[in-house]
Amino acid sequence: MRVPQWIIEKKRDGQDLSADEITDFIQGYHSGDIPDYQMAALAMAIYLNGMSFEETAALTEAMMHSGELLDTSALSRPVCDKHSTGGIGDKVSLILAPLAAACGLAVPMISGRGLGITGGTLDKLESIPGYRTDLSEKEFLKVVDEVGCSIIGQTSTLAPADKKLYALRDVTGTVPSIPLITASIMCKKMAEGLDALVLDVKTGRGAFMKTREDAEKLAKNMVRVGETMGKSVGALLTNMDIPLGHCIGNALEVRESIECLQGKVRGPLWEVTRELTAAMLLLCGKASDWESARETLEDTLKSGKALEVFRQMVAAQGGDPAVCDHPRDLAPAREILPAPSPESGYVTDVNADAVGRAVLVLGGGRTRAEDGIDHAVGLSDLVTPGQSIEKGQPLYNLHGNDDKRIQQARELLRDAIQIADEKPAPPVLIYNRMMPT
Ligand code: URA
Repeated sequence: MRVPQWIIEKKRDGQDLSADEITDFIQGYHSGDIPDYQMAALAMAIYLNGMSFEETAALTEAMMHSGELLDTSALSRPVCDKHSTGGIGDKVSLILAPLAAACGLAVPMISGRGLGITGGTLDKLESIPGYRTDLSEKEFLKVVDEVGCSIIGQTSTLAPADKKLYALRDVTGTVPSIPLITASIMCKKMAEGLDALVLDVKTGRGAFMKTREDAEKLAKNMVRVGETMGKSVGALLTNMDIPLGHCIGNALEVRESIECLQGKVRGPLWEVTRELTAAMLLLCGKASDWESARETLEDTLKSGKALEVFRQMVAAQGGDPAVCDHPRDLAPAREILPAPSPESGYVTDVNADAVGRAVLVLGGGRTRAEDGIDHAVGLSDLVTPGQSIEKGQPLYNLHGNDDKRIQQARELLRDAIQIADEKPAPPVLIYNRMMPT
């Protein structure tokens, strides 16, 4: 028998753990034999001393095998998913999943809720009346098979040790650790029965990874773990200094996603979505190079097929498909207040962190996992760097339901947007692409 505190002491003293020690510890934690306080101590030792690649891979395997693996063998299409490390206005999944499905992939997407200032795909989808994110595994696979994609929440059988450990890390200051994040994300994705995975590693003010250096390390680590487990994995490093798109907040982001699927929204949101979906097509052999993948995606969007897949997914999961025809009717807020620009010029900066905080205080995000959220609130028509603006034109429209919260959000947004006379260079959206050679 391995004594848990000896394993903790070993990591505390900067030594590497063996795969068996890691597996035993995770199994013990999952079964309840190892209490939260010992797991928290080990998580802190990992946070402080890091883990080798071999240790990280062993931790990922151990957490993946704490539950069942999704059996996707009956699906006839290549099975692929995308995972984002989270950001402000990141609604890419809502567009990418039906788009990839319309191009012949099967996308069984298991998503999370927003925590802190970053939004969550499940919260966004739940602003559609009736949409169920809690399908059984059988229902989930049926929707993927019939429609091509399905987006649901984490099931109780998929990597349960991660669910328990993530909640513990959240309250013990051990979230921002590259080995712990790698294992947490990859154990869930590797349990989904995928052939290929694309990672969107966000970096900047509105992301977990504030520096490009850390984001690059995380991306490389996750790609290597995936490859070690026999999967085809790619990663894009993307800009999260500025929010993605013009709408931030749950129902507002569904609206913008549907408008993007209708072909009405271009710009950074479409570009980032197209590049991530192109990476999926490349990994699954549905395109031979980036240019042809982009062309396929532009044509598929124009044909309306991706919107049709989204409509079918919403209907199959109990939601009202009419949202696809009238996205602006979704969850209206009591007040819609324009924020007039104090001067004319060019927008040079929009601070994603400030925008994320403002939407959170409006009620669009949560500070504790058990909090409820207000789907209606947020910002729409938010300006983006490079845009020209006249004095008095709105920098954004604030959607709110509570006067005190509206006031607080306005204060947080006071210095969030910068304007100058000179037009700035367009922001770089994608810093790096890591694809298997
Ligand atoms: N998302 C996860 O699923 N796990 C982490 O540790 C961080 C982000």
